[in-house]
Amino acid sequence: MEKKYLIKAYDPEDWLFDLNDGTEEVHQFIMPEGPRMKNECSDTFYKKGDHVGYHIHKKGCETFYIAKGSAEITIRGKRCVIGRGDMVHIPPNTSHGFTFLEEGTVWRELFHDIDMSGSTINKNWIKDHYPGMYEEPHFRSWYLDKVKNFQRVDPVHVKSVTKDEMWEVRPYGYGLSSFVFDKAVLKQKVGRWETDNVHEIWMAVLKKGACVQWNRPYNESNLFMIAKGSVRFRVLDEEFTAEADNLVHIPPYTKFEAEVLEDGTEVLDYGCTARLLDMLEDYDALISTDAHCFEDAQKKKEFFEKYDCYITGTNLVYSHCE
Ligand SMILES: [Fe+2]
Repeated sequence: MEKKYLIKAYDPEDWLFDLNDGTEEVHQFIMPEGPRMKNECSDTFYKKGDHVGYHIHKKGCETFYIAKGSAEITIRGKRCVIGRGDMVHIPPNTSHGFTFLEEGTVWRELFHDIDMSGSTINKNWIKDHYPGMYEEPHFRSWYLDKVKNFQRVDPVHVKSVTKDEMWEVRPYGYGLSSFVFDKAVLKQKVGRWETDNVHEIWMAVLKKGACVQWNRPYNESNLFMIAKGSVRFRVLDEEFTAEADNLVHIPPYTKFEAEVLEDGTEVLDYGCTARLLDMLEDYDALISTDAHCFEDAQKKKEFFEKYDCYITGTNLVYSHCE
């Protein structure tokens, strides 16, 4: 039963399947969900020196979390080095290519509007059944066009920058906006405006004892990735502890609560469909004007629902935004 919600990234028993196309080793955790194919999630392992050529996705977004190792990345003609804990968000029509600097570099991938596993499965099928066909340039170009992948020429003249200067990179510890509570700091890693309204991505840095709870049935699944520390989850009647490099995938309309077990626990909220940034900014503005404005529990509940937020911190006290 534990496997139903808890996915341990490095436990082969928790992979839906693994794919190896000869250059990449992919461990698939979650298949694309719903009409926007969101929450597709996998790890890709790279060897030192592996290279992903410069390309564009004409549709869909990729968000990478570097779980192990490091890479030199080229995006829109600029180049920098990123490492463990950094994130990269690639919107459509953004040229990107990567060279991996360490053996066993792990690229934890989140996609929407792409169906990455489907295209890799089809590519492997073609390679298995029609030897040589995929390597033929005209066919390869046609195939990649069908999966909305536009191949570029690796740039020769690139400008080296720091990762702080490349806006697609979200360095470890950085938030586009940050909101501070007594037991939590919420840092926005990817904005709704960067995902064609599909979701937001937030990092929560948490203290021991912080609790969150589902407060009404809602239609979206939740997807959390524990980057550091540990969290005890209760999903319906099942209890389990999620630790670093675990994913917790909770289906729609499913009651859950979570309690942080260690100071400094880091949780990425990958499946945030709430207008969380809008809500936190408005909460900050309202409570700064009237410190008592959310004392009425019903009024507070209605405020949360306005922003499609159906999870509340049951013991979090708001402090300020940064
Ligand atoms: Fe890509």
